[in-house]
Amino acid sequence: MAKLTSQQKKDLRLKMDYNNMMSEFVGEKEGFTAKDIKDNLPLANSAYKIVQENRGKGMMGWMDLPYNQKEVVEDIIATAKDIRKKCDNFVVFGIGGSALGPTAVFQALCHLRHNELPRKLRKAPKLYVEDNVDPERMASLLGTLDLNKTIFNVVTKSGATSETMSQYLIVMDILKKKFGEKAKDHMIATTSKNRGNLIKIAKEEGLKTFYIPDGVGGRFSELCPVGLLPAAVLGIDIKVMLSGAAYMDKICSDKKITKNPALMSALLEYMSMKRGKNISVMMPYADSLKYVADWYCQLWGESLGKAVNKNGETVYAGQTPVKALGVTDQHSQIQLYREGGFDKVITFIAVEKFRADVTISEGCEQFPDVNFLCNHTLGELINTERKATEYALTTANRLNYTIIMPEVNAFTIGELLYMFEMETAYVGELLNIDTYNQPGVEGGKNATYALFGRRGYENVKEEIDNAPRKKSEYFC
Ligand code: PA5
Repeated sequence: MAKLTSQQKKDLRLKMDYNNMMSEFVGEKEGFTAKDIKDNLPLANSAYKIVQENRGKGMMGWMDLPYNQKEVVEDIIATAKDIRKKCDNFVVFGIGGSALGPTAVFQALCHLRHNELPRKLRKAPKLYVEDNVDPERMASLLGTLDLNKTIFNVVTKSGATSETMSQYLIVMDILKKKFGEKAKDHMIATTSKNRGNLIKIAKEEGLKTFYIPDGVGGRFSELCPVGLLPAAVLGIDIKVMLSGAAYMDKICSDKKITKNPALMSALLEYMSMKRGKNISVMMPYADSLKYVADWYCQLWGESLGKAVNKNGETVYAGQTPVKALGVTDQHSQIQLYREGGFDKVITFIAVEKFRADVTISEGCEQFPDVNFLCNHTLGELINTERKATEYALTTANRLNYTIIMPEVNAFTIGELLYMFEMETAYVGELLNIDTYNQPGVEGGKNATYALFGRRGYENVKEEIDNAPRKKSEYFC
């Protein structure tokens, strides 16, 4: 995709349809009125101000990513070109923010069966994002890859995460045994420039290194080298992706809430939380966006799920994010969404134009109840089912809104990811919590270090050793 004109950008602008959050559509008991929005406007304006004033500061470095990576983007593109020439497999070792973004963008922008295509059609290495330490998974990966044609990218901001560093240790050992001095040609490190052990190891081993900026947390890192390198290796135009993010940044920096989809959705979600809607369902109607829902779940859950607010008061904030896929989950979850508790806000993602479409063939003329499908396309069917589900939920007074993507491409994916990040940032300020820490995650990480006998974690080990023992009578 070449550089887009302003008209092309306008044509690719994402829109948010929040009709079904309003009382006219979902009823007075559940829905919001224009007055509700007006009454909460001072809160939204204050959240807006805090986010915009802190752009680029502290852990809000992610807001600058669409603009400040000129040099690194050139380095990424050159490195990716070399990788594409030399290798047939590109493996990402990382977890959480280091894995969910690359997986989401891979699924969104590559052929849906990329790894199964022959090299000639694939035109890029296969991508494996390895985010678990299930031993069977690692064994199967190692049993599958031709190491001569494989490059690994170990991604960890802290440079310490047990899962990722274990993967690094296992594979680096194998690479050294196989390639000796040349092992380093098969390993890239993406980590913090100044913190953690991976940067020290990378220097010692002479690895090619990319840096995760200090002010960019894991779950906000897709638009830095964490996500840009795998995307470029796959042949995705990362400059266009960043320009989509920049375009959305302008939209989401509009003071007027009715023109700012991130601020509007943030306020609606916040007001919904205040009314006990504790569950946020993300339901794209496109297989290409299936893992965007996974990525969203981490962003929403880890950013907003906080025990205390900025004043140190206990708040137990956040909504439980749930991923669903249209139409698949119509036959699994929708029963609950329509008839279960009134505790959810459902976000649909609609795609107006699919990159491929398939016509339903003529046939079964003697069976009108089957034949009615004929000559329609699957694109029509999926979008009709989305509208039907939206209607069914709305008539059952269930809060829902839709993000409309004209099509899925590098530009609109940049827009989409950035819009969700902005929305999350605004909700964090509405809730008055620290959006960017993750003490709950660190708790688990530290307990693992302690149980594995890592130096400096002796106190945690002692605490765990003194915790109540499980009772045999509670096993059955
Ligand atoms: O969002 C976050 O900060 C976390 O989910 C991290 O991405 C995850 O824990 C991995 O951390 P690291 O990049 O330090 O290995």
